[in-house]
Amino acid sequence: MGRAAGRTKVWNVRILGIETSCDETAAAVVERGDDGRGRILSNVVHSQIAEHAPFGGVVPEIAARAHVDLLDGIVERAMTEAGCDFADLDAVAATAGPGLIGGVLVGLVTAKAIAAVHRLPLVAVNHLEGHALTPRLTDGVAFPYLMLLVSGGHTQFVAVEGLGRYTRIGTTIDDALGEAFDKTAKMLGLPYPGGPQVETLAARGDPTRFDLPRPLMRRDSLDFSFSGLKTAVRLAAEAEQPLSEQTIADLCASFQAAVTDVVRFKAELALKRFRDLTGVAAPLLVTAGGVAANKAIAVALGQASAKMGGRVVVPPGRLCTDNGAMIAWAGAERLLAGASDGMSAQARPRWPLDETAPPRLGSGQWGAKA
Ligand code: KG4
Ligand code: ZN
Repeated sequence: MGRAAGRTKVWNVRILGIETSCDETAAAVVERGDDGRGRILSNVVHSQIAEHAPFGGVVPEIAARAHVDLLDGIVERAMTEAGCDFADLDAVAATAGPGLIGGVLVGLVTAKAIAAVHRLPLVAVNHLEGHALTPRLTDGVAFPYLMLLVSGGHTQFVAVEGLGRYTRIGTTIDDALGEAFDKTAKMLGLPYPGGPQVETLAARGDPTRFDLPRPLMRRDSLDFSFSGLKTAVRLAAEAEQPLSEQTIADLCASFQAAVTDVVRFKAELALKRFRDLTGVAAPLLVTAGGVAANKAIAVALGQASAKMGGRVVVPPGRLCTDNGAMIAWAGAERLLAGASDGMSAQARPRWPLDETAPPRLGSGQWGAKA
């Protein structure tokens, strides 16, 4: 498919990917070779954390305006860093959902304009599919595998059996895990985003000082619930006022120990379920989303996998969090499978990966961060 005039064709598909569904404005150029391997030519991500930090979370209107201001420049940088121009591309891909509608529209309309002007196919990508397919870009993994997506908006186990074949086998019924980290941090007076802060302080704390609940840690449920744990942290913090530095660290450590226990337990259960579903004896577990950067959680996932004789693939941090390369890659996989979308492609604020799974909070709903 490579079209650059006068050049030897060395790639199968070269594609620009645009991501604007939450608080990262991102664009990337990715190639997929004839051998199925991916190569990232550029991957430009502008995190809007500084814009949202004063409000303690993402403000949709601020995010949408920032995407408008930033996206053209980010696309230009991605093209320059990749050393190509639009004539060298085979397609443009953009996140079409799920996410904050204002931001999604900015990215999708920009991609449509580029596609129309340069007569390129447009691929409207499900942001969650971008996360789900990332280990194929980074590690060349083959289907099937089990994905744990743990971000600020999602906490779900998805059996990835092939392109477009996703079965959600567990999800949060209330808060996402990243959200629980962020809210815990906020209650303890720590800045946003709280996950990295809680992890750092947890290293100096006593994980046994506070006996916090391990919600839904039962053999009959693959779902997660974090709102009760959040309340338990709040009550413990209120009882200890004024909070000393050591108490804050102990609360962080106790919180992280609780969620790590839950994740380890659920991962083992999910791997068994996945094995039953696919017949794969030693399943591969892959992670995606910002919380996957947490070392204690990665260790817990490794322990659960080892018990099953399997292994864990954690893509590099910058590809676990939102980025354009994952969107470009998912677009390339879709394009090669014969899919492309016309100018009528719609933004879909709610777009679950597994459309047959019952709706739950945190599974592709309106306004969910992914
Ligand atoms: O995937 P992501 O970058 O963005 C969206 O959710 O859109 O995930 C961000 C989330 C935040 O809730 C953040 O606190 C959490 O990931 N996070 C972490 C860590 N790094 C980021 N949570 C726990 N430990 C970390 N090291
Ligand atoms: Zn995401």
